[in-house]
Amino acid sequence: MPDKNSISSFFDLIQQALKDQSLVSLTASKPWTKSSHKKLSFKPVMLKGRYHISLSYLDNKQQFTEPLNPSTFSEKLASILKQYKQINAQLLHKSAQLLINKKGEGSLQINNKSQRLTLEHNKEKKYAIPPDAGFLFDLDLSTKDGKIKDKAQKKYRQINKFIEVITPHIEALPDQANIYDFGCGKGYLSFAMDEYFNQQLDKNFKIKGIDLKEDVIRKIQKISVDRPGLDFICGDINNQQPASIDALIALHACDTATDVAIAKGIKQNAQLIIVAPCCQKQIRKEMKAFAAKHPMLKHGILLERQASLLTDTIRGLIMESNGYKTKIFEFISTEHTAKNIMIIGEKTARKQDQALAIQQLKEQYGIKEHALEKLLA
Ligand SMILES: C[S@@+](CC[C@H](N)C(=O)[O-])C[C@H]1O[C@@H](n2cnc3c(N)ncnc32)[C@H](O)[C@@H]1O
Repeated sequence: MPDKNSISSFFDLIQQALKDQSLVSLTASKPWTKSSHKKLSFKPVMLKGRYHISLSYLDNKQQFTEPLNPSTFSEKLASILKQYKQINAQLLHKSAQLLINKKGEGSLQINNKSQRLTLEHNKEKKYAIPPDAGFLFDLDLSTKDGKIKDKAQKKYRQINKFIEVITPHIEALPDQANIYDFGCGKGYLSFAMDEYFNQQLDKNFKIKGIDLKEDVIRKIQKISVDRPGLDFICGDINNQQPASIDALIALHACDTATDVAIAKGIKQNAQLIIVAPCCQKQIRKEMKAFAAKHPMLKHGILLERQASLLTDTIRGLIMESNGYKTKIFEFISTEHTAKNIMIIGEKTARKQDQALAIQQLKEQYGIKEHALEKLLA
């Protein structure tokens, strides 16, 4: 039952955590009035050898951070308890959630759940996904104290670049949008989307990662139990029949798995389709007879590149024929990955008739059928 004591017990708990420096993080969400920031996040930091609490919040889509000394933080907390309906605190050995009702009474829930503490002021470039985000440690990309491991630097930058590139497209999706990550692998991108859009920007996206690999999915299902917006499913994307897809991503899904993902998106009228193709074997095989007679394509590597270009060109044209405004571009430097072409399609009301262009390309290169055409037939 909610009561007045729960609020003061919560306040005392945080005071004690400040004294013994066991506060890991605190967030205040669900403000009573629209004039308050949607979410305030607090984390301890060491500044010039002194213990501070860093406050961060979004204002006009811009992230602000300010350090508070412990007594200023206590005053701030007292006022937050009047302004917000939900306050979550993570301490070193327990977590606490305080829900406050309209009568100003609170319900306090405490769970014994240990966390690691990071007490460093982050002077590095500000990334959408901070290096001390818990999932990076769980996925073996960072150390216990929140530093990205040397071997994971490229992956970390790739994840952040991905979030940077997709943000303007994803932000327009409705609040409860269903977002699929087809061929999610270890789930880096699903976790990153949940971390940034759901945790930081307070969206309520339903993100579902799907992959064939049972052991990998089992592991990330365990890591994601505390993330209500994130779900991992073990299965073949060919066999998935989602009731509704608002957006999908498929990064480096092998060969025609990219086409399967695009086809699912088109059939479900997805608002947004984002793919970064991997190997393009299907078209390469079909081009073999033509390539044997063509001086430019007698070398394997040139045939491979030409087949990739052709595969993605036809994918883009098919998406345009189905009403998607399509962009094809390099989303990250080749220093990170050679597979750096991204196709983004945004659903519009206008279908472009690309049938002739597709037919001419196929005839030119001796191709009978593109995998995506077959999937949509
Ligand atoms: C190169 S990994 C990419 C992982 C992830 N998208 C990323 O970018 O970090 C390709 C993944 O696609 C998965 N995959 C390939 N074909 C699939 C299919 N038909 N159904 C489900 N997953 C598939 C593989 O198991 C593999 O984990």
